Amino acid sequence: MSATVPSSGLAAPAPADRVGTPDAQEAFVDGPDAVGAAPVRTAPWGADPYANALRTGRGPLFLRRSDGWLLPLDVERWCSDAGSADLSALHRCEGPVLDIGCGPGRLVAELASLGHRALGIDVSEAAVARTRGLGGAALLRSVFDPLPGEGRWGTLLLLDGNIGIGGDPAALLDRAADLLGADGLLIAETAPVDVDERVRVRLDDGRDGTAGRTAPASACDAEPFPWARIGTPALLRHARAGGWRTAGQWGAEGRTFVSLRRPVRERSARTSSQSAESANSAPVISSQLPK
Ligand SMILES: C[S@@+](CC[C@H](N)C(=O)[O-])C[C@H]1O[C@@H](n2cnc3c(N)ncnc32)[C@H](O)[C@@H]1O
Repeated sequence: MSATVPSSGLAAPAPADRVGTPDAQEAFVDGPDAVGAAPVRTAPWGADPYANALRTGRGPLFLRRSDGWLLPLDVERWCSDAGSADLSALHRCEGPVLDIGCGPGRLVAELASLGHRALGIDVSEAAVARTRGLGGAALLRSVFDPLPGEGRWGTLLLLDGNIGIGGDPAALLDRAADLLGADGLLIAETAPVDVDERVRVRLDDGRDGTAGRTAPASACDAEPFPWARIGTPALLRHARAGGWRTAGQWGAEGRTFVSLRRPVRERSARTSSQSAESANSAPVISSQLPK
């Protein structure tokens, strides 16, 4: 069976290294690590194919479904400077910014150079190391783990398909609402097609020459994990159901984005107790949290 490679709507410029300012990293370097002994879930994005791709700055790299469907991942673009579509999102950011699934860190570095307090989180050690190498602040942490500044972030970023993290966009929206401050902004990149799907995938570098078949040995070695792909109409439906307000909707360089205002609602019990924990350790971390 031949693989289906859906249009990712992503461009692939040549890789380029960049060095950002160290300010943001200094701002976060101690505090976030002081927030609880959070379990870090490294697999599967902590696995070799992704780490290798980030080390070299290039693919090929795919998300592979068991039926052979392939979603190409744009490693070259992620390892380049922020492009004009990225900037269309970054210029809308307000206050301190949390980049969820920051990857190799081009957005965190660019935000720092634009003068934002910005923190990246990622479950991949290679991604966090590369972000820090650009002078950006980054933590090895899942978005579902306790995080610094819960309930106080000005903007959350879910770009490059990251609305798919966890495989359940509605649950991720709920988590986002707990992280944002009142009236905070979520900027999400959507699939450039009208889709709303939950899948189980593996990372696959296609290096064994089997990309396109249903069961390559290298991909079968890894545990499949949940992922989602969602276009703008479906994301807006989920968001409205959760009480989010649409702040904007735009496209740039074939990519599509949505910005949403946090719903006015009680925070989850989990976040309330996390906030209490954070308050108890305030002397260590208060200066590191979003202002
Ligand atoms: C599609 S890639 C996006 C890359 C990235 N936005 C960039 O600029 O390079 C998804 C990223 O999300 C990270 N990730 C996956 N699950 C995560 C989670 N639960 N919490 C935080 N990051 C996660 C992966 O390690 C990976 O770097």
